[in-house]
Amino acid sequence: MAGLRARLAEWRRAGETIGLVPTMGALHAGHISLVDEAKKHAGKIVLSIFVNPAQFAPGEDFGAYPRSLEADVAKFAFAGGDLVFAPATAQIYPPGFATTLAMGGPAAAGLEDRFRPAHFAGVATIVAKLLNQSRPDVAIFGEKDYQQLKVVTQMVRDLDFETRIAGAPTVREPDGLALSSRNVYLSAKERAVAPSLYAALRRCARDISEGVTIQTALDTARKTVAAAGFVTDYFEARHAETLAPVISRDEGQIRLLAAAKLGKTRLIDNVGL
Ligand code: PAF
Repeated sequence: MAGLRARLAEWRRAGETIGLVPTMGALHAGHISLVDEAKKHAGKIVLSIFVNPAQFAPGEDFGAYPRSLEADVAKFAFAGGDLVFAPATAQIYPPGFATTLAMGGPAAAGLEDRFRPAHFAGVATIVAKLLNQSRPDVAIFGEKDYQQLKVVTQMVRDLDFETRIAGAPTVREPDGLALSSRNVYLSAKERAVAPSLYAALRRCARDISEGVTIQTALDTARKTVAAAGFVTDYFEARHAETLAPVISRDEGQIRLLAAAKLGKTRLIDNVGL
């Protein structure tokens, strides 16, 4: 971390602005789009790679999570990034580490938090550490993890971090499946079905825009997703900023958010309307 801080201090002395793209590695085009977004906001781009044990529950895929450091470094360099920070677990959580952030607001919206109760405490804690370690001018988070983006935005506001948080749109396969490092877990059969989650989100958004009630549109979408073979954790309409439940279009900007399992793979996705 001393090396990271020294390099960043050098850049700051030279008048550079710094953008951070926090990741867990296994880079795909979605991550590269975050790097591209960061380059619009800052002169020097830092990529952090850390598979954060604190945001995985026992029994989740921490051990199996894809790791490809060498390829990630090459992809980041090719994308025009400047510095990779890939700390060891002991650097982030040294013996005696005993602090965890407890997040409310969007972190307690009853979406991911309902199924992964300790997840956002782990995310907020690691993001707070990464922001303190690198003190970037801007940090970029994908809209694919929409609740995470709102949690981090809330944390930065509540705890007076000086870093600006910017979101970047979800990158999709040609058939609509949102890019995710976890897509490698899908069998060929599941991969063929997977885009129907996004299709259901889009259809639901269109129905609501055309005047179908939110409840009816959600009921239809939930049935469609179940018929396609998903086991749904949630398929919800929420206020786009607070993530509070909405029952009518008059309640402001709406985001539809869904999480569902196909076999052993859990997919999450969302759309605005
Ligand atoms: O979105 C991710 O990859 C992770 O949750 C993050 C933000 C890097 C924190 O570990």
